[in-house]
Amino acid sequence: MATVTFEPGGTTVDVHEGENLLRAAIAADVQITASCGGDGTCGKCRMLVEHGSVESRPSSRLTDEDAEKGYVLACLSAVRGDVRVTVPAESRPSHAPAPGSGNRRVPNALLSAEEHVARVPHDPSEPPVTARVLSLTAPDLANNCSDLARVRHALRREYGINDAAISLETLRALPDVARAKGWTVTAIMAEPGDATPAICGLRPGDTSDRQFAIAVDVGTTTIEAALIDLFASETMGQSAEYSDQIALGEDVITRVIAGSTAEGLEDLRRRAVTTIGRITERLCAEHGVSHDEITSYVAAGNTVMTHLLLGISPANIRTAPYVPVAATFPWTNAVESGLPGGPGTQLVTLPCPASWLGGDIVAGVLAAGIPWSDKLTLFVDIGTNGEIVLGSKDWLAACSCSAGPAFEGRGITHGMRAAEGAVELVRVDTETLEPMLLTIGSAKPLGICGSGLVDCISELFLCGALNRDGTFQRHDGSRIRERERGAEYVLVWAEESGTGSDIVINETDIENLMRAKAAIHAGIDVLLETVDVEPDAIEEVVVAGGFGHYLDIERVMTLGMLPELPAERFQFIGNGSLFGARLAAKSRGLLARAQRVADMMTYVELSVNASFMDMYVSSLFLPHTDLHRFPRTEALYSQRATIRTVG
Ligand code: FES
Repeated sequence: MATVTFEPGGTTVDVHEGENLLRAAIAADVQITASCGGDGTCGKCRMLVEHGSVESRPSSRLTDEDAEKGYVLACLSAVRGDVRVTVPAESRPSHAPAPGSGNRRVPNALLSAEEHVARVPHDPSEPPVTARVLSLTAPDLANNCSDLARVRHALRREYGINDAAISLETLRALPDVARAKGWTVTAIMAEPGDATPAICGLRPGDTSDRQFAIAVDVGTTTIEAALIDLFASETMGQSAEYSDQIALGEDVITRVIAGSTAEGLEDLRRRAVTTIGRITERLCAEHGVSHDEITSYVAAGNTVMTHLLLGISPANIRTAPYVPVAATFPWTNAVESGLPGGPGTQLVTLPCPASWLGGDIVAGVLAAGIPWSDKLTLFVDIGTNGEIVLGSKDWLAACSCSAGPAFEGRGITHGMRAAEGAVELVRVDTETLEPMLLTIGSAKPLGICGSGLVDCISELFLCGALNRDGTFQRHDGSRIRERERGAEYVLVWAEESGTGSDIVINETDIENLMRAKAAIHAGIDVLLETVDVEPDAIEEVVVAGGFGHYLDIERVMTLGMLPELPAERFQFIGNGSLFGARLAAKSRGLLARAQRVADMMTYVELSVNASFMDMYVSSLFLPHTDLHRFPRTEALYSQRATIRTVG
């Protein structure tokens, strides 16, 4: 770790070595002007390095004389050890002093895949789908048993696998495959660990040296997939797209309705498969992997998405008593489903404990390490649905509420997925309302993703620009303006955006986000009430969701989405569903553990809960009707109010 000290004021922040200096300033609540998203083009984020060193990329926005004096652009500079910098007057959006926030820490960053994997005990040498090379004995008149008997004998002799089942399709292919490469074959085996192994496909020769899996988070709004090298136990890359299903409806209920006819169901199934296939093709092309080398897809999705992916009708999920067709699903042939792969490639889905609690949450709970934890843990997955789980290794209670797609950047005027160019961190100057922002990839801003939206709205609230009901209060600066559809805040001017247009947040966007956060907060309150636990008793909070690389938990608490607890109790794991799917793709033990997690979850149905609606309405304010439940936000708001008055 390295300590960055910002002068004047002496505010410090601890960051990882190599951290971007602008991100460090954002974390320290040190206001500087930075309006190009960290692209290095606005030239406004100048800082003078007084002591220590930073590694800076050259910029045409600095003269040779500037560089000689020690000026750098914060967005193009990486921290190398402890450093002291001065923020010159021209880089500050106002002359009001920065809040004296003392020592702060960086917003909660995503753990790396390796850090995650290390947290969860598993054996990566035993994936649920394997490629087993078999040296078959060639038949002769003295040894003329069947081809299948030779395969079974080799499985027993070489791997200790008895009585493996085989499909008729695979049996039909067997004679040609066995003879194609001198009686050496590779069997694609389904080995769930708790059931008899099955031969899913046969390939000529020894192809066992390269085995890959595709882990998939089948989200309602976004589908994200990762390519995993099963030999190296490494994630080679991951990629995401909005789901093709969106064309048939934004939310889960609309999809259920659309999937209630045979044609609609097949259309939705095909769209999910097409999106996954497209992402897979891209990942394979980027990493030199052929389709034949994929042995499995392991997919985690909510219950409706899982039904749709498998072509199972979700119709009865929508009406009382809300019954799914199944909670666990048979493995199926991925290629026959329309996915890229080779003979025997399997499509495996994680179990869905209830109609509104799916494999994505089971995967997230697995990735968060809760099945091994003694601590009372609150797990919150924030997506189109907000799913909440409370418990430990001994018990789990869960509920689900509709949050809408706002956190994934849809239904927001300039919202976008957490991809390059998305504004992901925002600070707003209390006096001038000038924003300081950073985008994913430090590219020119194209839009705003979930974490940027959370940051921006909580900052506008703390600056006094928003009333507690989410409407704009201050209209005296150029950044807030009236438009036909209501007031809006200009986050990025057209000349600094990558789209050539202003990037704004309006009252409808804020209302959408407030509804979403209120639903999640009310869901948490209901769970706490159900198990009779006070918020303070929660020892760990794990937040999952496709927000971006960073999520500032303090801003999330300021919004009133999560209970106010010490920041060190929070972790942000990003896409928990995808992490869990990755782990299950690598380890049959973890796949079996996912089933046990699903079995032990007690589901609390919010639609019949007497308290939920009251709790929801109370949460439709910033941060909540009862401000005393958010003492830190109350104090911060008063502190900023003092600055507003002085300014
Ligand atoms: Fe650094 Fe614009 S040049 S934020």
